[in-house]
Amino acid sequence: MSDEADSDGIEGRMDGYDQARWTDGERYEPLLSEKNSREVEVDTPLPDDLTRDSLELPDLSEPELARHYTRLSQMNYGIESGPFPLGSCTMKYNPKFTEDLAALPDGAVHPDRDGETIQGTLGVYAQLQDHLARIGGMDSVTLQPPAGAAGELAGVLIAQAYHEHNGDERTEIVIPDSAHGTNFASAAMAGFDVVQLPSGEDGRVDLDALEAAIGEETALLMLTNPNTLGLFERDIVEIAEMVHDVGGLLYYDGANLNALLGRARPGDMGFDIMHYNVHKTFATPHGGGGPGAGPVGVNEELTPFLPTPHVRESDGGYERYEPEHSIGKVHGFCGNWLVLLKAAAYIARLGDEGLVDASAKAVLNANYLAEQIEYEVPFGPFHHEFVASAGDQDAADVAKRMLDYGVHPPTTKWPEIVGEALMTEPTEVENRRTLDQLADAFNAVASEGAETLASAPQRTASRRIDQVSAARNPRLSWQALEDE
Ligand SMILES: Cc1ncc(COP(=O)(O)O)c(C=O)c1O
Repeated sequence: MSDEADSDGIEGRMDGYDQARWTDGERYEPLLSEKNSREVEVDTPLPDDLTRDSLELPDLSEPELARHYTRLSQMNYGIESGPFPLGSCTMKYNPKFTEDLAALPDGAVHPDRDGETIQGTLGVYAQLQDHLARIGGMDSVTLQPPAGAAGELAGVLIAQAYHEHNGDERTEIVIPDSAHGTNFASAAMAGFDVVQLPSGEDGRVDLDALEAAIGEETALLMLTNPNTLGLFERDIVEIAEMVHDVGGLLYYDGANLNALLGRARPGDMGFDIMHYNVHKTFATPHGGGGPGAGPVGVNEELTPFLPTPHVRESDGGYERYEPEHSIGKVHGFCGNWLVLLKAAAYIARLGDEGLVDASAKAVLNANYLAEQIEYEVPFGPFHHEFVASAGDQDAADVAKRMLDYGVHPPTTKWPEIVGEALMTEPTEVENRRTLDQLADAFNAVASEGAETLASAPQRTASRRIDQVSAARNPRLSWQALEDE
């Protein structure tokens, strides 16, 4: 293996890529308070032991402030810097018109206002519930959960309440080994025992293993389809029958719904409950670290168990109500309104034809990219994503090195069915030029030696960080830095 990238195209781009690095001496872009600050007297009615006498606050002009945040953004990589092919975790570019809509001053109504005064808002909730139900083949949808993982937990609690209501004690949830970590966490948080299902040699559910795993203890089988390898579970109808025959329910992890949008519906495949990852399938930011949404759809039998409040039509208008056997609240009010508004706007703008087109592009892009890259890509053909293997290279090193080529790396080392996994999802928003740029970056890194990879990244604002310490021992406050 040569340490040099041999593609002319990527060499050209390499010369042109360097992430901004704003420093002041040894320090990165200083904190606002370090640039200039002044003491402010604190005058407050709160008791003395709860307050300070004075407070040091930044004292800066507007240009200084604007430049500070611009510099910080230039030292970061985001979806507006370049492609972000994170398989499963999917970061896609969201159109600005949804942001504009959510920023309208009239949009920000207080969620606790009297229903009579927010009929328009409740109408949008009801409309989005209906759109999602129709798209998923479900009978009703709650918009309350604030993220995909929170949707999973809500769905699991609904299944639990349903079984309990029927006097059916079920203690186990079956989950394939390729599933997202949140599936296992949601099942365990709700108090279930997790039964892990080994994948078959073709990367799909192994029906014999499933037969052995399910029984009268089974409350739920959680599946995503296409699965995290980007493969459609062809036996899904049989799988649903097997689970229903033992009295269990079928849960659809909707993270990969962008592969099927407008073409196939989980409800028609036999799924009873599903969540929608609106940040992947529609147009909202990812929930991690901010307000998100993970609506949950259910069939008719499970509708009385939905969280409260739920929105429905009444007397020519809309009202909030508590479903008969509601599991209670999983989040405040009816969910994160402005996030949901963006999803509603996106669905309305695309229309049925646009949704079908989005899934076509998601699938085409994944398969095109899988064909362009020189890493081994087992399995296939794919839906929205594929998992390549870094082979002899360390997938984490590959990821770091890709940053030097001005693209974000794929998800790495998961699912474990593929050694040194590079789980890649270009998403439906990228065009062929960008896919070629991504392929060039993959291929340049594939031809590089271990030394180059181990010392990457070189051209980013931060060099390689100690990820374990950063995760286990984070210093998130200015105070911690000061103390040091
Ligand atoms: C397959 C799968 N399921 C569930 C989730 C959880 O979704 P969220 O990140 O919105 O909590 C993810 C992550 O995005 C995922 O990839």
